[in-house]
Amino acid sequence: MTGDTGKPQASALENIETKSAEETRLLGQALAEFLDAGDLVILEGELGAGKTTFTQGLGAGLGVKQRVTSPTFIIARTHRAESGSGKPQLVHVDAYRLEGGDDVDALDLESALENSIVVVEWGRGKVEDLSAHTLLIELKRPQTEEIPVTGTIADIPGDTNCMATFRSVSGNWNLSGVKEAWQSLVAAANAAVETDDTEE
Ligand SMILES: Nc1ncnc2c1ncn2[C@@H]1O[C@H](COP(=O)(O)OP(=O)(O)OP(=O)(O)O)[C@@H](O)[C@H]1O
Ligand SMILES: [Mg+2]
Repeated sequence: MTGDTGKPQASALENIETKSAEETRLLGQALAEFLDAGDLVILEGELGAGKTTFTQGLGAGLGVKQRVTSPTFIIARTHRAESGSGKPQLVHVDAYRLEGGDDVDALDLESALENSIVVVEWGRGKVEDLSAHTLLIELKRPQTEEIPVTGTIADIPGDTNCMATFRSVSGNWNLSGVKEAWQSLVAAANAAVETDDTEE
């Protein structure tokens, strides 16, 4: 940590800065070990901040076989873990078009939470109360300032840094070890790339 990105807020459980989409994916993968059925994860961040990328890693960590893509048009998608893995399934929701209230009730996420981890993009202010164990993850790509006024963060080409801030909304969250788990996954991925390079 260089400390030049500003002081972390007191209530943040963890602040982790990734350098690429792959590193954000690996952060989701690392978090999977810390989640159980009944856990609700709210992903906050601008268009293209990395919410779906993060969820793809979470799916990989939970051993889901189906590819995790943005559920923008179907609102919610259920991904089952490989049978026999003993891992809970992943329900991935895009609440961008939901107003909250009845819109959210119609999805019956409370039932889903009985045997699933539920991840909600754009869920802040809409779904917090559905679980007594809710985690908020804010994703921010600081390069936002470079975007032309007419564009969105999704217009930034290639890999940029992404700051992930983890905050507890409800319940008792212990994320100690998540950063180390992520660092090992990143180191292993980098080592694999180096091996590929030397094989040429
Ligand atoms: N450090 C990074 N972390 C995550 N994504 C990154 C990073 N650097 C570049 N990217 C790119 O940014 C894009 C993030 O898209 P993604 O669909 O994950 O965002 P999103 O937050 O789900 O957007 P939306 O609000 O539209 O659902 C991808 O194209 C990814 O490759
Ligand atoms: Mg998305």
